[in-house]
Amino acid sequence: MKAAILDGKRLAARIRQEVAEEVQRLKNRFGRVPGLAVILVGDDPASQVYVRQKGRACQSAGILSITDHLPATVSQKELLRRIDEWNRDDRYHGILVQLPLPSHIDAQAVLEAILPSKDVDCFHPYNVGRLTLGRPLFRPATPAGVVELLHRTGISPEGKHVVILGRSNIVGKPLANLLLQKSPRGNAIVTVVHSAAPDVTVFTRQADILVAAIGKPEFVRGHMVKKDAVVVDVGVNRVPADNEKGYRLVGDVAFAEAAQIARYITPVPGGVGPMTIAMLLKNTLQAFKLQMLDE
Ligand code: GUN
Repeated sequence: MKAAILDGKRLAARIRQEVAEEVQRLKNRFGRVPGLAVILVGDDPASQVYVRQKGRACQSAGILSITDHLPATVSQKELLRRIDEWNRDDRYHGILVQLPLPSHIDAQAVLEAILPSKDVDCFHPYNVGRLTLGRPLFRPATPAGVVELLHRTGISPEGKHVVILGRSNIVGKPLANLLLQKSPRGNAIVTVVHSAAPDVTVFTRQADILVAAIGKPEFVRGHMVKKDAVVVDVGVNRVPADNEKGYRLVGDVAFAEAAQIARYITPVPGGVGPMTIAMLLKNTLQAFKLQMLDE
């Protein structure tokens, strides 16, 4: 293998430690700690794992957390009522509704019901607008995790061609916005490639930094990667395996092949995933400060 590993797990642990220290300082100053309310609807196994990981991460950083687990059959009206309750509960500075939601629920209406000052996912149109304008209250956790991973590894996107595979509202679009900002952590030349492209390889082979976020297991093969590129794999896909769990996790990148060509590569698991959780903690801290300090 040629590429060096971008160790998200190790970096995330350091960020979580920094958050824990700041939580302690704020606790000494205000006698209060940040709080995060996570709403989980239904029993999607992957969502349950993510929500459990988020709760544990909060706990280890000294952040108060609660999971409001609702049945898959919950009505839209009831879900909106719950959000209203969490909006008014000042023990909880951040609110997160785990996606995806069941198909009978209008997810956009649900996300818009969260107070923008508590919107630690940065999914509310107000916050998406502020992000686009370069004046964010919050940075969405997964894109911010990608940017932080690059920054803390000393990889600057300035002047580089970043190609993002995938145009989702959770990753592709907000990441493009962050990397476009006129700042040392941005200033990239950004291309967003998606399923309408007749040949995605034409684009991916031009990437100095290639970010895969399309949710297709091992979609990016070795020949699609430019020599010495930085490859960031956002995908987390379950594929059947002959083990106890019955599945294993693979990214959107065929790791072994891409690692022969790239200069840097993120593993799955242990790359972007842990960074996402660390950035969620940072956002919860940010929400606390916004509400306590008006800053
Ligand atoms: N489902 C997959 N990624 C995310 C995320 O970043 N936030 C929420 N709320 N749900 C998700």
